[in-house]
Amino acid sequence: MSKSVRDIIEKKKLAQKISVITSYDYSIASLCDKAGIDILLVGDSGGMVMLGYKNTIPVTMDQMCLFTEAVSRARKNSLIVSDLPFMSYQASTTDAITNSGRLIKAGADAVKLEGGTPMTDTIAAIVETGIPVMGHIGLQPQTTILSEGYRVQGKTVESAKLLIEDAKALEEAGVFSIVLEMISHEVSKIITETISVPTIGIGSGACCDGQVLVVHDLLGMYEKIKPKFVKRYLSLSDEIINAVESYRKDIEEGKFPLKENWFPMEKAEYEKLRKEIES
Ligand code: KIV
Repeated sequence: MSKSVRDIIEKKKLAQKISVITSYDYSIASLCDKAGIDILLVGDSGGMVMLGYKNTIPVTMDQMCLFTEAVSRARKNSLIVSDLPFMSYQASTTDAITNSGRLIKAGADAVKLEGGTPMTDTIAAIVETGIPVMGHIGLQPQTTILSEGYRVQGKTVESAKLLIEDAKALEEAGVFSIVLEMISHEVSKIITETISVPTIGIGSGACCDGQVLVVHDLLGMYEKIKPKFVKRYLSLSDEIINAVESYRKDIEEGKFPLKENWFPMEKAEYEKLRKEIES
């Protein structure tokens, strides 16, 4: 049986760290699931790493449903959380509930949305329908980049106090966990110690209850941005380029395909064929 929201909350109580990785397609999600990751996050970052958008703003509900369906076909053990994309939940509670329902029907176990205190009514309404919600505060790529660009949050007393208030408000609204994105280490620590639900950090230090990274970043497959908080475990871009170059050269030099890669006819059938063609 796959992991549940309850299992994730339990991990905080047991002081066990929570592992989260983004996934958008069947093949990589299968491998991440096999590797024992707690949560596969179908992030709207898929718009950038899978579809080539400059940011997450153009991502649609249809695209998020397609990613979620692919990941849910791959999943055996992990919990699946899917992002509500930009403007799929901000305009009305009805939108938020309807679109959360679409992600659940596509195979998600829970949804994630960005925003602090102003989002609490929306979160409470989704939770009321029985759909678990993961919050997301600090740097909020869907909106922060419109006003400020990518910046560390919670570096002053004022902004730190607001973030702590946001985290408390989200907990009260019923989230089962909160992503803390690019929040100073000290503020993440205070939030993690203050709230009872798990915090999942990205660029927010080691004190969070869990960590999340974009899978393309940790595999070294996305070259456009390399944030300081990313740890690269592989350089897949280099490996892929080398492999594809070798393939191209093999074709050009007649080294691929070889006998073991093709399908021969029976000799007798072939000879019959030749004779028929010649006559
Ligand atoms: O979309 C995403 O991948 C995310 C994570 C980086 C937290 O929201």
